[in-house]
Order: sequence, then structure tokens, then C-alpha cells
Amino acid sequence: MNIKQRISACCLVALVFLGINAQNKGLSPQIININNRSLVSLEGTWKTIVDPFENGYYDYRLMPLKNGFFSDRDYTDKTHLQEYDFSTDKTLSVPGDWNTQRPELYYYEGTVWYRKRFDADSIQPDKRYFVYFGAVNYEAKVYLNGELIGEHEGGFTPFNIEVTGKLKAKDNSLVVKVDNKRKPDDVPTINADWWNYGGITRQVSLVAMPRNFIRDYMIQLDKGNSKLIKGWVQLDGSQTTGKVTIKIPELSIEKSFSVDRDGWADVEIPVKKMTLWTPENPKLYNVVISSANDLMKDQIGFRTIETHGTDILLNGKKVFCRGISIHEEAAFSNGRAYSEEQALTLLNWAKELGCNFVRLAHYPHNEFMVRTAERLGLMVWSEIPVYWTIHWENPETYANAEAQLTDMITRDKNRANVIIWSIANETPQSDARLKFLTRLVGKARSLDYTRLVAAAMEKEEIQKNELTVHDPLEDVLDLISFNQYVGWYDGTWEKCDLVNWSFNSNKPVFITEFGGGALYGLHGSDTEMFTEEYQEKLYKKNIEMLKRIKGLAGTTPWILKDFRSPRRLLPEIQDDFNRKGLISDKGQRKKAFFVLKKWYQDIEKQETPVK
Ligand code: GCU
Repeated sequence: MNIKQRISACCLVALVFLGINAQNKGLSPQIININNRSLVSLEGTWKTIVDPFENGYYDYRLMPLKNGFFSDRDYTDKTHLQEYDFSTDKTLSVPGDWNTQRPELYYYEGTVWYRKRFDADSIQPDKRYFVYFGAVNYEAKVYLNGELIGEHEGGFTPFNIEVTGKLKAKDNSLVVKVDNKRKPDDVPTINADWWNYGGITRQVSLVAMPRNFIRDYMIQLDKGNSKLIKGWVQLDGSQTTGKVTIKIPELSIEKSFSVDRDGWADVEIPVKKMTLWTPENPKLYNVVISSANDLMKDQIGFRTIETHGTDILLNGKKVFCRGISIHEEAAFSNGRAYSEEQALTLLNWAKELGCNFVRLAHYPHNEFMVRTAERLGLMVWSEIPVYWTIHWENPETYANAEAQLTDMITRDKNRANVIIWSIANETPQSDARLKFLTRLVGKARSLDYTRLVAAAMEKEEIQKNELTVHDPLEDVLDLISFNQYVGWYDGTWEKCDLVNWSFNSNKPVFITEFGGGALYGLHGSDTEMFTEEYQEKLYKKNIEMLKRIKGLAGTTPWILKDFRSPRRLLPEIQDDFNRKGLISDKGQRKKAFFVLKKWYQDIEKQETPVK
């Protein structure tokens, strides 16, 4: 089955799935590289109505209303009854979560209606128009001028809705019903160790496209072959035959490919010599993709990524992933991060630590995060929120997880720094779970055969102080990747000296989490939990333990920065924050920060050949 057959098979499945996943309706296939398109921003201040009883959607019998809040009627005629009015109601900034914007919404989980009025008087008849959302947590119902135009489920992936022919020149009403209530069948499910930030949390744009445009493409090196660029281009529109041309001026490459009747073109470009992307030299090339009616520019890096025994090979060379885990939470303000500046702050902290790798946990982060990491030379582990006790038996839950996986890979598959797709975190073993996750692995490989596929599994103590990973899922993954908390949830740091690790399969070992909490500025003995001294010692002991693990190819300690979590309630220490950060919620570096930094410096020194 060639790439197109695999992808179109999955698009076919996606189309079928769109039907299956009751929550995703009216969406058009994802348009990638959105910030290189002609956009009108719909960000800024939006009017809002907080509606915990969904009074704007259901009547008292819980029957959907014909004229709910989505009708966005101005309350001008005071002679008739109306019990809502966006114009006089409060506001929220978009993008952004509502929890850190308005104190009364700090704990709020439920429905908030967002309304934006905008003119579209430069509408052109030869163009198509889409409304694009970078992400909305969790469920979004989107209305344009009172009409329901699309619905989406999942808080961390983009979606776009075609609005061609539906826009007015003046005073369009865009209303989004956002609901972040947690439900057992959702992805993630009801229990998670991060704050359930609600809202329109990423960019919102009105996108203008030619009638026939370049919607999607994959331009990357073939698996393990640095001499061949292999990929495809997908056009969207009624007339999509003809040719597409790929230009890489710096490499004097200009090659055209025929487009078939589905708007698809297979791409193969032999390359003699090129500068491969590495953390030390994150080289990006200007790539221009053109078709009869459209032209797309992107900055793309080229590298190969494979495993060989217990080694991870980047461009055929063994690499150790000096990593850190990161939540998509802004430094200092500690709300959902969404901007390039916020990404830069967090990722520069990772660079300061000596990292060449980051695990973006536990859900796809915003595109600025991924692209900024690419420019800074940080390899990326990208993950979908199949986290803890997902409802494995529910086909809609599976369809939802698969959609999030598909959208994550679709958006970031041209990013050279993304080397690992992760399909799950700490999921208790069962047959239903194994079936569910094995299908997701197959899905990921069908969408992208070039990258590694992994999951954060759990360790097991087969007998006292004998630790391993014993998970059948391991057989279908490329790494033995797992979380371990020896010295925190599992004994105290003394235990690190006592344990031995051994593994069944000959694959790279990757520790996706280790660590412990400390409140910045709390000092005491190194046996007292939550002191900086305990965390410092815990890191020293874990690092010594990790050095004894054969085949260790990387690690992403938990975690770069203290982050908000509703599961962390110890007064005067946690106060709604998971304190496992190496940096506090106020940007202060804890003692353990320097322990990890030292280790990474030592590794880098060992890897850097003496001139
Ligand atoms: C888990 C989990 C994280 C969590 C961490 C912790 O391993 O993957 O999401 O925050 O442990 O307990 O701090």
C-alpha cells in the first residue's frame, strides 16, 4: 500500500470517523501551516456569558432551544422578554483560559459562551473562507450569524470550518459555546494532574484561500535515507489536477509532480548534499510549494531518526536525549500558554538546563511551542492525552483519541525536531487497553512511517529492588519508555542505591518522568520532603541510578516548572501547585535545577569531540 493509499485510507476512515465521533461535525479537513496563510485575526476581547445551567442552549425540559444565546440578539426592544445580552455582559481575552483571567472563574468547569462581532467587507468572490481555531478546551459548538456551522471535541488540537458564502460584509456574529466539563468517556478522562483550563485557548483566525489551494503536505526525508526527500501534497478544491512544484532555492531544487484527480501528488526528490537538522545546528530550509492557483512557503528541516538496538540514531549518529518535561503553562502568569513569547521563555529555560530535547506533556502543545523548539534546536516528544483510566471499551472514546492523534500528526509532521509521537501516559494494563493502544500505534505509523512511536509506560518491581517494565505494549513501540518515581512515590532517595534495572527487549530505554516536589525557598535536611535539599538529593541519587541503566538513551525529568493542579492541596506548600518543578511558579531556580544542569553539561562534554 503506497503512502497515498495509506493516508487516503485513513482520510476515508477520518471521514467515516467524523460520522462516528458524534462530537466532530461540520469540520473541514485540517489546513496546515496556518500562519503562512492570508489571515485576519479574530483575537482580542470577546464578549462572554457564563452559563453553568446551559440556559442558552436548553429549555427547562432540556430540549435544545431554537433561539438560544447563539442567536446573539441585541437586547434593544425592552418591551419583550430577553434574559441575556452579550453587549452588556463581561469579557474575556482570546486566546487565553478563563480560570486565570477572572477570579470567579478560577475553579469553573462548565459552559461559557463567547461572542465576537466582525466585519468582512473585503470578501472576494474568487476566494474560499475558513474560521480556524488553534484549540478550544474542551467541547466547542461554533455558530456564525446564528447558524450552527461546526462542532469539535478535544482541548489541544486545531480545527477549521469553511464559511464561504456565509459571511456578511458587516457585523458578522461568531458565537462559540465552550464547555470544559470533564466526562468519563472523554480524552482525557475525568482524572488528571493538571488544571482543567477552559476557554478558547489558542489563536482564532479568518483564513482566505484560493478556490483550489494547497491544504496539506509532507516534505521530509525518507526513513533512514538522507539522500531522498519523500512525501506528498494534497490540494483542496474542485479543480485540483495539473502539477505542483517544490522549490528549495538554497539546494537549487525545483521539481514538479503530477496531481491526480483526488488532488494528491506523490513527491520524491533525490538530494546530493544538504545540511541535516541537529540540536547543535537546527538548520531550516526555505521551501516553496506551488500549484496552479496557490503558493505555500514553509521553513523545513531535514533529518533522519531511527533506533538501532538500544541506540537512538539522529542522522545515523547515536544521540542521548537530554530532556525535560513541560506542561503548556505560561511562566509567571501560570495560565494556559499560547504565544511565541511564552514558548520562548519556557524553552530558553530548557536550553539553560543544557537540554537538547523536551517532552511536551501530556497533550499537543500550541504550534508556536513546537516551531520555537525547532528553531532553538530542541527535539520534541509530542503526546495525546490518553492519560490514566481512559474508557478503553467505548468506540467513541477510541474515535476521539484517534482524531486527536491524526490532528497532532497532521499539524506537526513537517517539523524536523519532532522525533517521537506518544500515544499514551501511565495507562493501567488490560486487554481492552492493549487493543486500543495497539490500534493507535498502527494509526500513527500509517500517517507517518518516518518517526518513532512510544508511550509513557509504568515500571514494575518484579522482586525487591529488581525493577523493570513488563508491558505487552512494549512489543509494538520503538522505545522502552516509562515513568519512575524511586525516592518519591516509591521509597526515599536511599532506595536509588539499592535497585537494579533490567529489561526484556533490546530497545532504547527512555525515562519519561522522575523527580519529586520542593517548595522554592523551603530549606531543611535532605530527608525532609518538599525541601529543596530533599529534591536536590533525590536528583543526585536518581542520576547515579540512571547512569547504571544499560541502554539508557534519554530522559525527561518531571518537570521544568511548578504547575497548577487540582490534585495538589497541601497548604503553604502546594496550594494548587504540583511542586516537582526545577523552577518555581515565580521563575526561581531550585537547587535541583543545577544538579540536572551539571549532569547534562557532563554528557555534552563527553559527546563533543576534542578539537
Ligand atoms: C505522573 C503523571 C504526571 C503527574 C506526575 C506527578 O506520573 O504522568 O502527569 O503530574 O506523575 O505525580 O507529579
